[in-house]
Amino acid sequence: MGPTYNRRMRKTIIEPFKIKVVEPLVIKTREEREKVLKEAHYNLFLVKSENVTFDFLTDSGTTAMSANQWAAMMVADESYAGSRSFYRFKDQVTKIMGYEQVIPTHQGRAAERLLFGILIKPGMKVPSNNHFDTTRANIEAQGAEAADLVIPEGKIPSLDYPFKGNIDLKRLDAFCKEHRDKIPLGMLTITNNTGGGQPVSLENIRGAAEIYHRYGIPFILDACRFAENAFFIKSREKGQENRSIREIVTEVFSLADGCLMSAKKDGLVNIGGFIALEDSAWVEALRNQLILTEGFPTYGGLAARDLEALAVGLEEVLDEDYLRYRIATSTYMGKRLNEMGVPTVLPAGGHAVYIDAEKFLSHIPKSEFPGQALACELYLQDGIRSCEIGSVMFGAAANMELVRLAFPRRVYTQSHFDYILEGFEELIAKKNELRGFKIKAAPPFLRHFTVKFEPV
Ligand code: F0G
Repeated sequence: MGPTYNRRMRKTIIEPFKIKVVEPLVIKTREEREKVLKEAHYNLFLVKSENVTFDFLTDSGTTAMSANQWAAMMVADESYAGSRSFYRFKDQVTKIMGYEQVIPTHQGRAAERLLFGILIKPGMKVPSNNHFDTTRANIEAQGAEAADLVIPEGKIPSLDYPFKGNIDLKRLDAFCKEHRDKIPLGMLTITNNTGGGQPVSLENIRGAAEIYHRYGIPFILDACRFAENAFFIKSREKGQENRSIREIVTEVFSLADGCLMSAKKDGLVNIGGFIALEDSAWVEALRNQLILTEGFPTYGGLAARDLEALAVGLEEVLDEDYLRYRIATSTYMGKRLNEMGVPTVLPAGGHAVYIDAEKFLSHIPKSEFPGQALACELYLQDGIRSCEIGSVMFGAAANMELVRLAFPRRVYTQSHFDYILEGFEELIAKKNELRGFKIKAAPPFLRHFTVKFEPV
């Protein structure tokens, strides 16, 4: 690839694609949104997407696909068994990740449930930097413990540190030594979503691999944002700047024994996932389970067209112009918000910016959900749907009151982001008028999805 546009030193971020298919942007009035939000009991999960202008609820499954992906879907082979599309997908995974055994699933958590179902017994322990919610829940559902061993720097939101997703190697070594017989597998999440979309350095992945393997523990990556993680390694880690993304990705996967993947992120698709493994020891048991709950081993709960789109997406995500633009956007949003005085988790993550609502709306006590207050005003003012990650989601266990703006891939443009930043200027001017919320009705668990609020 020759020198391309964004290697030139220009300030403006441009999308490294042009647009062939468009969707109208929904723009409602504030009055209309007030009605919608009231009817949704001030819970953004209960708002219909037809009333949302900028949907930043998640970066998962919200990607815009390319012309090549749609073209591949048209030539998919929908045979029940032995589909050509499966082999195309499998060969692509093996080419990029190096693993021979590839088991498709309908999404990431299905891969988690299958693998943990055959490996984990009650009383066992699974270490990682941070387990994502569904990963933790699937480990706990087997009666085991999910241990989070992220470095101390990763727990301080205001600390700017290049690899806040790193696992604490000293603690990991001690943990493996103490519990060796109870650890069926060791994990690492790249990038670390729970910690704010923060990357893990190559040096740290090498260190974790060395420890796991010294204790004879299989090392499995939660790889759903592996390409974004590789770009952070290239741009932040000394000695990695002249390597290609592909070389970094190859080394990262060569250090582990396999991976779990929610392809809804860096697979650049709307649905899909897989388990990929180096050797076949667990594969028979996995395939038997797969047939029971997901589907035949050559489709695993997906249509062949989904596998085709994924095969192309895995290739496209390694494009350095794409990754540079992707990370430039989240970095830009984080930086501009900070310049305006909006406190965020530092630095910005790969897929999202996390606003510190407790600091930003310091006049609203934790008991009145400052994160929810900010999320509601972002919706009322500009139709932005964000996600509270604080006391609404975690109850008394929350130690931060964050609002996540997670960016879908290739969906919104730079002018959308500039428009949103202008909106933040207006919001800052009136932030002291915002009021908190109290809970009217809540279910017994995972309450953020259905909880009903009332303004204070
Ligand atoms: N692992 C990580 C690190 C994730 O971020 C997710 C999903 C999963 C596993 C589960 O994958 O949704 O395909 O079953 N994260 C989404 C999010 C839901 O919004 O952060 P899934």
